[in-house]
Amino acid sequence: MYEIGEEEVEAVARVIRRKKLFRYGGKEPTECELLEREWAAQFGAAHALAVNSGTSALIVALIGAGIEPGDEVILPGYTFVASAQAILAVGAVPVLAEVDAGLMLDPKDVQAKLTQRTRAIMPVHMLGHVADLEPMLKLANERGVMVIEDACQCVGGSYRGKRAGTWGKTGAYSLNFYKVLSAGEGGMLVTNDKTAWQRGRVQHDTGTAWRDDIGQMQIPLFAGENYRFDELRGAVMRVQLGRLQSILTRLRAARKTLAQRLDGAPGLSFAPVHDPEGVTGAALFLRVENREQALAFHKLAGERGLSTGLPYDSGRHVYTNWEVLLERRGAYHPARDPLHTTEAGRAQRYTKDMLPRTLENLARVVSVGIGLNWSAEEIEKQAEGLRQAAREVQGAPVASK
Ligand SMILES: Cc1ncc(COP(=O)(O)O)c(C=O)c1O
Repeated sequence: MYEIGEEEVEAVARVIRRKKLFRYGGKEPTECELLEREWAAQFGAAHALAVNSGTSALIVALIGAGIEPGDEVILPGYTFVASAQAILAVGAVPVLAEVDAGLMLDPKDVQAKLTQRTRAIMPVHMLGHVADLEPMLKLANERGVMVIEDACQCVGGSYRGKRAGTWGKTGAYSLNFYKVLSAGEGGMLVTNDKTAWQRGRVQHDTGTAWRDDIGQMQIPLFAGENYRFDELRGAVMRVQLGRLQSILTRLRAARKTLAQRLDGAPGLSFAPVHDPEGVTGAALFLRVENREQALAFHKLAGERGLSTGLPYDSGRHVYTNWEVLLERRGAYHPARDPLHTTEAGRAQRYTKDMLPRTLENLARVVSVGIGLNWSAEEIEKQAEGLRQAAREVQGAPVASK
């Protein structure tokens, strides 16, 4: 979350005064309903469904798209483990693929990982960067599989002028505390497919007991769970959504200026970006020669008070730390675990060395977190610190823009 203030306080107070904290029922449109309408309009999607987390949004995105037990879903080895766990939660099988030098799912490896059982490709837009969607969609169309986007870390990002999350059959966003917009926790599904949306609605609302639109559903009810959003957070999110454009404008401008200041600096190069105009601006990825240089660079930058990070060391964002896959515990009980109950799951192997290019690409990236309100002086200070750190690191990093 980048910004929160009195407007959110007022929005929450309004809901409390109204004494209606539940999202369904009543004649007036609720905060959650209005949020969904506003989100769909702003993101250019036909339907949106607010839920209680990004993980829930991924689960409804998968169920909405019609993913079935035993289906294979291809995802990158660099994403939060929740992407893989959502696939397992719907009984499907995660198939891990390499990321490219920009740390996004590599369409070439996706092609290599497609099998008869593949039902979907799940590109993940990490740290506000967008995956290379066009070749992925082309491949998906050719092979008759779906694209389901994990845009949890990319609220507001876009690819060729169209929002990340709206390119595939379904898309999911996270509204947890660490994301572009936040209500503390939350998630959002977007889709242009009415059936996907309706299936998501059934799944997210146990028993669908409080809703008055059941008669209008074109799909049969099935046993769902409770991922409902609530009015307090719905009201906060409506204010947050109103802040989106301003947040993107400031982050993008700061990121662009920093990149301009670093361009051509000895020993510094940028990781490739699939749509430089479409990034949220949350981070700038610098690319160095190897892990040793990245470690040294990160240490030197830290000593100068700069906020760099090493994607390689980002814990459960890297598949080598996904013990639920490596140790084959895809559910609380083997009888509910697609890795044990389905042919595709039993055949799937997960090892720490299975994605060597992902590990190499991760090892070479140093991520610079962009400040929302950086002044021109602050950007200059960051640029100078990064330039100095690069100079002190032994050996010259390769250019790979
Ligand atoms: C890429 C990605 N996918 C899914 C999630 C899950 O979102 P949530 O924590 O809201 O359930 C996250 C959250 O960090 C994420 O970064």
